[in-house]
Amino acid sequence: MKTIIEPFRIKMVEPIRLTTREEREVILRRAHFNVFQIPAADVIIDLLTDSGTAAMSSEQWAGMLRGDESYAGARSWYRFESVLRELTGMPHILPTHQGRASERILFELVGGPDKIIPGNTHFDTTRANIEHSGARAVDLVIDEGRQPSSRHPFKGNLDIEKLGALIAREGAERIPLCIVTVTNNSNGGQPVSLANLRAVRDVCHRHGIPLYLDAARFAENAYLIKLHEPGQQQRTARQIAREMFDLADGAMISAKKDGLVNIGGVLLMRDDDLAHRADNLLILTEGFVTYGGLAGRDLEAMAQGFQEVLDEDYLKYRIASVKYLGDHLTEAGVAIVQPPGGHAIYLDAAAFCPHVPPSQFPGQAVVCALFREAGIRAVEIGSVMFGHVDPDTGEHTPAPMELVRLAIPRRVYTQSHIDYVIEATVNVFQRRETLRGLQIIEAPPALRHFTAKFDEL
Ligand SMILES: Cc1ncc(COP(=O)(O)O)c(C=O)c1O
Repeated sequence: MKTIIEPFRIKMVEPIRLTTREEREVILRRAHFNVFQIPAADVIIDLLTDSGTAAMSSEQWAGMLRGDESYAGARSWYRFESVLRELTGMPHILPTHQGRASERILFELVGGPDKIIPGNTHFDTTRANIEHSGARAVDLVIDEGRQPSSRHPFKGNLDIEKLGALIAREGAERIPLCIVTVTNNSNGGQPVSLANLRAVRDVCHRHGIPLYLDAARFAENAYLIKLHEPGQQQRTARQIAREMFDLADGAMISAKKDGLVNIGGVLLMRDDDLAHRADNLLILTEGFVTYGGLAGRDLEAMAQGFQEVLDEDYLKYRIASVKYLGDHLTEAGVAIVQPPGGHAIYLDAAAFCPHVPPSQFPGQAVVCALFREAGIRAVEIGSVMFGHVDPDTGEHTPAPMELVRLAIPRRVYTQSHIDYVIEATVNVFQRRETLRGLQIIEAPPALRHFTAKFDEL
């Protein structure tokens, strides 16, 4: 069969309220043109994030009921530990309440002033936790990873030459570890190849530097390796994922992505001494070592989710559904970050509405237009999020790219929902010259995209 179907049936539904265009106009204005301020009940298709938004399976819900809430050594902990051990082979497994809790513990231990932490592209919270410790975060993704139209199949790869040069320049003793994020969320959910992971590991180990994975989307990365890396087609996603972890000395996982749960995280380590110190920090701020910041039922849901996510039928459908959205938009002439990655499609808003300059936020204009058109909530990843205004001169420094992310929650929307998103985006694209720029009328000093108020120009 050529048709790839959702490999699940739906037995519990959550109604979507279908708003009218007039209602959406009122909602958008009430939110001051900032979709973070729109109540979720007023959104028809919510593509704000793929994090913590997955639908759990009947087995996960069954696990929630079986959850053992004993403080220490709960049954649910042992199940979680054995699933994670089999999946990753890591000797030390620490549950945390989400990805950034793992980051905070790790960088409190290995970070600090004068330290440098290289990576392909650090995710925002990873960078923030590194910098909070006083260390410097350095992004070393390959050049193709920064070019939206490049079709390199592994645009998440870390540039080996840049890594070698950094080590030679700064000294290995200043680099407590190197992080490879799989898939590379910050450059479009682009995968990292096994060949690249091996090369990074070799350079790191030659200099005594441990290699860590930021493995939030390890299963999507493994499946993209299976699809596109020469020689990997006969292997299972589980075997590939295991090899990815085998190449690493540790990993942080936000289970809110490929753990298929709404909350949860993991910190994995091989080093006994470091793990012992991490346990002490975990107890200090998250909870006892057999539950982290979680309930026993959360551990059950994660244990089940980490198994289901490696189901090849699921991964085939998941990667195909993201590609389906990307391919249809490309066919209609909409510029996107190529090739479609693992969890989202990124529209190139600068190409979408070239008449709106970066200082008038073309990405935000597209986000507002998608909401008006069809009640779709996307997120701007451009000058609203990363632009900067000089407080003295008022001069606007734009972000390097003006993107709009359509993140696809796991197992939540069906193909007809995706068709609806395609139709709406193409409709907006066809009358793109009518889109209006925006100005910020009120904004906090940091992370302004969450709360800024806008007006249309
Ligand atoms: C690559 C990556 N690392 C870390 C995190 C942080 O995880 P959490 O949101 O669970 O704290 C995220 C979240 O989006 C992510 O995408």
